Amino acid sequence: MNELVKGKVKTVFSTSEPDEVLIQYEDRVTAGNGKKELNVKDKGSTCCEISSIIFKKLEEYSIKTHYLSNPTYNSMLCKKVDIIPLEVIVRNLAAGSIVRQTTLPQGKLFYKPLVEFHLKDDSKDDPLLTPARMMLMGYDPDTFIDTAIAINSVLIKVFHNIGLDLVDFKVEFGVDSKGNLLLADEISPDSCRLWKTGTQKSMDKDLFRNDEGGLMDSYHWILKKLQETN
Ligand code: TMP
Repeated sequence: MNELVKGKVKTVFSTSEPDEVLIQYEDRVTAGNGKKELNVKDKGSTCCEISSIIFKKLEEYSIKTHYLSNPTYNSMLCKKVDIIPLEVIVRNLAAGSIVRQTTLPQGKLFYKPLVEFHLKDDSKDDPLLTPARMMLMGYDPDTFIDTAIAINSVLIKVFHNIGLDLVDFKVEFGVDSKGNLLLADEISPDSCRLWKTGTQKSMDKDLFRNDEGGLMDSYHWILKKLQETN
């Protein structure tokens, strides 16, 4: 196994199968583009298991993902993809950057989900893209919007069933060797905002971003609830 990519919280390794990779989830949490980081015991395996449950659930709804299996607690066997350098964000309620950058108040409910795109490039601070800029870069926003909305519908249900409101989330896509567009990366409380139903009580990485503490208590609770309901 050779290391192919070392990300902030995951490492990608080659396998004996040329079209498959092993993604190892590390015991690390980062925020603010890596400006803030901490080693956190059990965090890798917890996010890996949460992500595996969610990818399997999305596959049940015919959403194509890179997920193949979960061979160990902290690793995921996945189809090898070329990651598209876009972060696709879906928002149901206003929080985070949209509150900082607009006049929308925290917790404002949107009449339909908002899909936004950022460039995936830490060296440029992941700027928000316009549809016209995306087109000039060779990406049609419509390629991603329907799938992002479908993922949102499934995730809203999955989290509602365990007593959480899905505020927003980020996903990434990749293209496999056969040219299929697949949902890739991870879906976990690291990449979603989740509030206890009907409240603004954070159960996600905002606990770390905002120095509130209790990150692993929350992640363990989410995993346990997902295991009980799926
Ligand atoms: P934002 O409010 O900072 O734009 O983030 C929106 C959602 O996307 C939130 O759930 C966190 C997630 N996200 C990531 O997972 N990685 C990122 O690099 C960014 C910018 C956001």
